[in-house]
Amino acid sequence: MTITLGEGNTPLLQAPRLSERLGVELWLKWEGANPTGSFKDRGMSVAVTRAVEGGATTVVCASTGNTAASAAAYAARAGLEAVIVVAAGGTASSKLVQVRAVGGRIVEVDGSFSDAYAHAEELASQNGHVLVNSTNPDRIEGQKTAAFEILEQLGGLPDVLTLPYGGGGNTKAYALGFMEAAGALPRLHPVESAQRATTLASAIRITDPIHRAEVDAALAQSGGSVVTVDDAEIVRAWRALGREEGLFCEPASAAGLAGLERGSAKQGERVVCVITGHGLKDPDAVG
Ligand code: F0G
Repeated sequence: MTITLGEGNTPLLQAPRLSERLGVELWLKWEGANPTGSFKDRGMSVAVTRAVEGGATTVVCASTGNTAASAAAYAARAGLEAVIVVAAGGTASSKLVQVRAVGGRIVEVDGSFSDAYAHAEELASQNGHVLVNSTNPDRIEGQKTAAFEILEQLGGLPDVLTLPYGGGGNTKAYALGFMEAAGALPRLHPVESAQRATTLASAIRITDPIHRAEVDAALAQSGGSVVTVDDAEIVRAWRALGREEGLFCEPASAAGLAGLERGSAKQGERVVCVITGHGLKDPDAVG
C-alpha cells in the first residue's frame, strides 16, 4: 500500500515581474503546495511506504523542521510512531506545531544539526526503527519526481536550476532525476547562506552538508557552482517573491532567487528556481 497525502504535481509558475527585472525567463517550482508545505513530502511518501513494507514500527529523523513535519505526518498516515530529533532552539515553532498536531514525538538535543543527526542515527539502530533522513535512498527516489515534473511542465530542460543548499539532498535528487529522464543536466546553482551555522533561514542552518561530495560531482558535470549569499540577500529575495510575485515562502526557500540576484544566470536564459517551503512555516520571520 502506498502511503500518500497527495504530494507532488506542484505548480510551475511564471514570474513575469522578476523575469523582466532580472532579464531571464524565470519559472518558480512551488513546493510549498505540498501537503505539509514543503518538498520533503515527495521523498517521505516513498520512505514511509518502504518502511511499512519492511515491517517498521517507528520512523526517526533529525531535522531543522520540514523533514520533521513531513515524517510525522506520513508516519501518522501509516500508523507508525515518529521520533523527531531537533537542535534545541533551532526550529521554527510552526514546524514543531505540525509535528505535535499529528502525534510525533520531539526530542531536543543541545548542539547543531550534526549533533541531532548523530542522535537520530543512534535511535534508528533500534529494532523496527527506520531513519528517514535524506541519507535514506528512498527519500531521494521520491524527490527525483520534481525533476520529472519540470521536464513535463516546460517541455524540456531549463538552462539553469537554482535552489537552496542545506544538506544537499535535494540538489542530488534533481541531478539524478534530470539524468534519468533527460540524460542531461541544467546548470545547477545551489545557494547556501554565508552564515551556515547561524542563518536566520533556519531550514538550511546546517554546518556540514552531508551530500557535499555528490553535490560537487553534479556541479562539475553540469558546469554549475555553489553560490554563497549573506542573510540580508536572502531576506531581500524572500521579500521580492512576496511583493513582486505574490508567493509567500519561508526565508530559506528564497535562497535560489538570492543566487539569481547575484547573477548566476545569463541574460535570456530559461531558469527554474525551486521554492522549497511555505511561508506560514516561519511566520516569525515576517517581522
Ligand atoms: N529548503 C527548505 C525549506 C528546507 O527545509 C531544506 C532542508 C532545504 C531547502 C535544503 O534542502 O538539505 O536537501 O539541501 N531542510 C532539512 C530539514 C534539513 O530537516 O527539514 P537540502
